[in-house]
Amino acid sequence: MNAAVTAEAVEGQNLPGGADAAAYGHVRTAGVDTSHGPILYLDDISVSFDGFKALNKLTLTIEAGELRVIIGPNGAGKTTMMDVITGKTRPDAGTAFFGQTIDLLRMSEPQIAHAGIGRKFQKPTVFENHTVFENLELAMKTDKRVKSTLWSKLDSAAWDRIAATLELIRLSNQFDRLAGLLSHGQKQWLEIGMLLMQEPKLLLLDEPVAGMTDAETERTAELFNTLAGKHSLIVVEHDMDFVSRIARTVTVLHEGSVLAEGPMDVVQNDARVIEVYLGR
Ligand SMILES: Nc1ncnc2c1ncn2[C@@H]1O[C@H](COP(=O)(O)OP(=O)(O)OP(=O)(O)O)[C@@H](O)[C@H]1O
Ligand SMILES: [Mg+2]
Repeated sequence: MNAAVTAEAVEGQNLPGGADAAAYGHVRTAGVDTSHGPILYLDDISVSFDGFKALNKLTLTIEAGELRVIIGPNGAGKTTMMDVITGKTRPDAGTAFFGQTIDLLRMSEPQIAHAGIGRKFQKPTVFENHTVFENLELAMKTDKRVKSTLWSKLDSAAWDRIAATLELIRLSNQFDRLAGLLSHGQKQWLEIGMLLMQEPKLLLLDEPVAGMTDAETERTAELFNTLAGKHSLIVVEHDMDFVSRIARTVTVLHEGSVLAEGPMDVVQNDARVIEVYLGR
């Protein structure tokens, strides 16, 4: 399981912003002060592995409600950046803030997950022996802000949230199916749905369409375009067709730093980006 949906991930202090703040239609930032600035602020972050700089003075700002795509060659530091944001890797230097006031570098991995940063790894991790519906239910119930035990009856608001999520991830007609029987793409959508059930204020997705069919990739682009503006998302992907379907602002990482940043067409035509990545 991802840290974000394990029981330990939800231990600790309750933060403001409960299930009632969950309605889709506004950007979820409750408990994170974004009134004067971004949802995520990385400044001068450096990470070394045995002297090799995986991140080299990385500076990056993500606004609330933004869908930011990060691209760049293998080894550019994209996953390492997500490891720093989620507390898995400690940087040697730099600053990392979630909203105005939450210093990520002072928090443990479970605390960061609990504060509202969700993460999707490449491999889908769903409960294969449970139905699609039960997976979403379980994801919701690992959130201690929802006052219910695992086997208590769902209230109507909880039902509505699961139904809305099923529709969003286009698995309404599969709700009663064992998750283990879903296609790879459907499992990926289910896991995204499980993350959404926990109402993350920032969601990190590392190569979400890897291994998907073309049709699944296209459907995933539609899903992300639906989430854009309502959620704050960082999406790392190599599939440039997918990237072009969802791109707003694109950041190009290279050798642990930002090489270029801007709209897709600008980044695509940047000679340095073509040289290190797109031209290959
Ligand atoms: N735990 C680690 N120990 C040693 N080196 C590491 C570790 N994690 C990452 N690296 C190295 O840091 C560099 C950046 O890796 P990272 O996984 O962040 O790249 P990436 O941009 O995600 O690449 P890809 O597109 O292939 O996923 C690579 O050279 C990698 O080998
Ligand atoms: Mg990676």
